[in-house]
Amino acid sequence: MDIFKIKGPVRIKGTVAVNGSKNSSLPIMAAAILAPGKSVLRNVPNLSDITVCARLLRKLGCKVTRVNGDSLSIDSTVIDNPVGEYEIVRQMRASICILGPLLARCRRVKVSMPGGCAIGDRPVDIHLRGLRELGAKITLKNGYIVADAPKGLRGKEIFLGGPFGSTVLGTANVMMAAVLAKGRTVIESAACEPEVADLANCLNKMGAKISGIGSPRLTIEGVKELQPVEHKIIPDRIEAGTFMVAAAITKGELKIENCRLDDMMAVVDKLRGIGVTVEADDGGCFVTRKGPIKTADITTQPYPGFPTDLQAQFMALLALGKGNSVIIEKVFPDRFMHIAELNRMGANLRKEGQAVIVAGVKKLVAAPVMASDLRASAALVLAGLAADGTTVIDRVYHIDRGYEKIETRLNPLGAKIVRESV
Ligand code: EPZ
Repeated sequence: MDIFKIKGPVRIKGTVAVNGSKNSSLPIMAAAILAPGKSVLRNVPNLSDITVCARLLRKLGCKVTRVNGDSLSIDSTVIDNPVGEYEIVRQMRASICILGPLLARCRRVKVSMPGGCAIGDRPVDIHLRGLRELGAKITLKNGYIVADAPKGLRGKEIFLGGPFGSTVLGTANVMMAAVLAKGRTVIESAACEPEVADLANCLNKMGAKISGIGSPRLTIEGVKELQPVEHKIIPDRIEAGTFMVAAAITKGELKIENCRLDDMMAVVDKLRGIGVTVEADDGGCFVTRKGPIKTADITTQPYPGFPTDLQAQFMALLALGKGNSVIIEKVFPDRFMHIAELNRMGANLRKEGQAVIVAGVKKLVAAPVMASDLRASAALVLAGLAADGTTVIDRVYHIDRGYEKIETRLNPLGAKIVRESV
């Protein structure tokens, strides 16, 4: 098990390039199932979640190989074992996104229920509702979803909204099932995240007929077959936002390349509101902070609202604000594992239901802390950059799921992070 030892305070200065999006790569890797043959995905980050997804695809019968560093070749000619095994799915809930494409291709599939994780329950009821609407017979057996569509799927008008609004992977699953269904499918209350748009654009390159991309209403005209594709994954807006906070929390100056500010309007709005300068800069941005961190009132929402995946990172930043901020988590109400750990570092955070009162403190102090889930762990790294002393973070594997060797990206910018195996 690896730990991080992070010496602070430091100032993050220099230039960093954002990697391809984890949350775009995972469903697009699954989409390769839909088109027998060899697809090539470029700009795929080298992360443990990607490795797990590749293992899952190999178990189905696909050949998955990494080619020249940032590309993945996925040959889905043979799929002779349409089963998403619990042993793999429980490691990564996003594995559920093979369900839709596998059902569309094989018509009878078994995928383990994902189960919960540190950020809360991860129900898939809306995924299953959407697939049933397309004509699949879905039963739950010994912890597995068994989906049957012997005569194939039929297009339908489907409302895919739930108690928390839209669902990202639910939209991905139903869209990937609908592209090979007979007739037209309309998905109302579809997720509008850039990663869902990237998937839809990739499917259209494969021969699908999807319109309304980026809007809450997707229209899909079913086609007979799809072709393998070559596709470049969009940049990771959550990694970009994490780097922005690294510059802001350390009063640094950071040029961030491959960063699509258009995908990050809510984030940039909040950063500017608390006194952080964010300037567009040829295909990326320049982030710096000179004055104090002002207070903010943040509510996480589905895109284009403020992303839940940056809630923890902003909590670390606002912990050093001049005054009280409020953060309300409306997407994953239990996504607060980072509160106790940040308070161990001298933050003053108080949870009131789905809201957290962030009483700004003058400084954070290093402490031994525990990583719990991907983004909470990133928040602890950011806090460690700004804290006085050496912060020790345990269970660093959580961070490696979504950030490619983050210490090798931050140390050249002035961070002092040492990874040790214990
Ligand atoms: C995706 O998860 C992302 N993961 C998450 O990023 C992200 O936090 C989330 O979208 C929200 O933006 C990937 O794309 C791989 P949802 P997903 O379905 O699709 C409820 C990270 O850190 N819901 O949009 O699983 C659900 O419980 C990860 O990179 C149902 O009730 O999230 C949640 O409260 C973490 N029933 C809300 O909807 C369902 O059938 C939004 O979840 C599905 C979801």
